[in-house]
Amino acid sequence: MTVYFNGNFVDKDDVSISPDDRGFVFADGIYEVLRAENGAFFQEDLHFERMARSLNEIDLTSVDVAAVREAIHSLLYHNDLQDRLAKIYIQVTRGAAPRQHAVPTPPPDPTVYATVAPHTPPLDKWEQGVKAILHPDQRWARCDIKSISLLPNVRATTAARRADAYEAILVRDGFVTEASHSTVVGVFDDTVVTHPLTNHILPSTTRALLLDLCGAHDIPVEEIPIPEADLPDADELMVLGTTTGVMPVVQVDDWTVADGTPGPITRDLQAAFRALEPA
Ligand SMILES: Cc1ncc(COP(=O)(O)O)c(C=O)c1O
Repeated sequence: MTVYFNGNFVDKDDVSISPDDRGFVFADGIYEVLRAENGAFFQEDLHFERMARSLNEIDLTSVDVAAVREAIHSLLYHNDLQDRLAKIYIQVTRGAAPRQHAVPTPPPDPTVYATVAPHTPPLDKWEQGVKAILHPDQRWARCDIKSISLLPNVRATTAARRADAYEAILVRDGFVTEASHSTVVGVFDDTVVTHPLTNHILPSTTRALLLDLCGAHDIPVEEIPIPEADLPDADELMVLGTTTGVMPVVQVDDWTVADGTPGPITRDLQAAFRALEPA
């Protein structure tokens, strides 16, 4: 497999990263995940704006984001994935330096890595819906940065897998924030409800698209946190993400969402979302 590493296209086996890399030592870095179809990326601008913002928020501004953007297009061709569905992972860390917490001056050269893989959409799950669990949101107070420091997310997703569930819906101070690797959206009395964009959630590209689709379909939207106590009253529930798509949630822990099948608003939004072309 050919990957992009610090400006070059190389075989993945030939990549070597220093044990002093601050990504390894401190999880001092950010990442981005995109989806492509037939060589075109979905929401490419939004993803790269978010990546630039994440870098900016952690003061890692020496990265040539335009070059990375160009590179991932080439990477599809290098891996013969230009004619199919693919997912793209990009990771940037602050680079290698002797271990000390403070960012060294001058800062080291960042480590920039990107990889592509075939993507298989979860068609059966989209059709039937999935189970989720509730889990405490144990993450930090800057979840708006797409940080590679994901231990609380790893723990939450692992708890979900052990419960035979697809996702862990995170609860902070009695309110749903998002899920371990996706956005949470509820439908209450025909209104789509999701957490506002704050430091407690990632500004999801799929969330942005879905809210646009709600506008186009005259579906009312409220951007307010959903109280955990109100969740069993949801008429519909879904989780959203770049590889997750618009995923119906039909069971949470041991209770079912409404009648336990994907609801009509979820179905409409799912169909509208799937009809979107890469842009
Ligand atoms: C915590 C979290 N929320 C939401 C999302 C969805 O973001 P996007 O729609 O941009 O993929 C992700 C995706 O990885 C995520 O990790």
